Amino acid sequence: MNNVVITGSARGLGFEMAKVFRKNGYSVALSDVNEKNLASAEEQLKKEPGSGKVTAKLCDVTSLDQLEALWQHAASQLGEIDIWINNAGVNQPMVPLWELKQKEIDLLIDIDLRGAMYGCKTAISHMKEQGHGCVYCIEGFGADDATQLGLTAYGSSKKGVQYMVRGLAKELTKTNTPVQVGRLNPGIMITDFITHPLGKEGTMELSDSVKKVYNILGDYPDVVADFLVKGMIANVSKKKQDDYVAWLTKVKAMKRFMTAPFNKRDFFKN
Ligand SMILES: NC(=O)c1ccc[n+]([C@@H]2O[C@H](COP(=O)([O-])OP(=O)(O)OC[C@H]3O[C@@H](n4cnc5c(N)ncnc54)[C@H](O)[C@@H]3O)[C@@H](O)[C@H]2O)c1
Repeated sequence: MNNVVITGSARGLGFEMAKVFRKNGYSVALSDVNEKNLASAEEQLKKEPGSGKVTAKLCDVTSLDQLEALWQHAASQLGEIDIWINNAGVNQPMVPLWELKQKEIDLLIDIDLRGAMYGCKTAISHMKEQGHGCVYCIEGFGADDATQLGLTAYGSSKKGVQYMVRGLAKELTKTNTPVQVGRLNPGIMITDFITHPLGKEGTMELSDSVKKVYNILGDYPDVVADFLVKGMIANVSKKKQDDYVAWLTKVKAMKRFMTAPFNKRDFFKN
């Protein structure tokens, strides 16, 4: 056993988590909406250290049918699925809510909130049948109630994701369903996500003040993935409901700000 499915895993955090799972003996089903990136991620993952199988399936998380096809593909290739991660997500253009176009709001909510909800529905239904499994969702800015200019739509979706997982935990407990849900807090990561709003469309120039915060609180996704995957693997035997694996805690963030004058990191240097 030891099988994991990760949505949006052709790059960034999803791909880095796939590498760590593989190193820890897991078989991995990669999936993404970007076909070209997915093919190269599959090829690259097969070359990484690990004994488990690697498989890949194109999947747009805004489609329940495609998520169902992803489950069927992973289960037929790998067997029972122990961990399913709703990782696919997009950032928003850093403008106030009223300046977003309708299609930008729709896309963001469809991927970040509806996609995670569809992913939970799909994976929990099948894990209930197989009698075990844990589904994780990714929190982000807003889940901790923070507010900021240019992150209101994104923050609303991540707050929604947090509420959904906590609600699901209650539903699973009350119905004695042998499936767990959990939340991952990856903090701030230096990935394409921060400069490419809504996935494909254009790049976004970050202001100096935003870069300053990212330099203090940010990390590369491989560092974060290592921490999050170890937490998820530990919970396979513990089976904690509403498991919360948090990389950037309030205490860690405070320490980062206090030591910032001595820690001259610059992720944006050319
Ligand atoms: N980077 C950060 O600072 C940060 C901070 C907190 C939370 N997060 C969350 O972490 C997760 C991963 O972020 P990342 O930084 O690795 O981003 P990323 O942009 O590097 O990777 C996201 C992946 O999701 C895929 N994707 C986009 N739309 C999709 C769809 N409809 N269906 C399937 N796949 C789709 C993209 O093709 C991409 O491969 C997201 O949920 C994001 O909200 C990121």
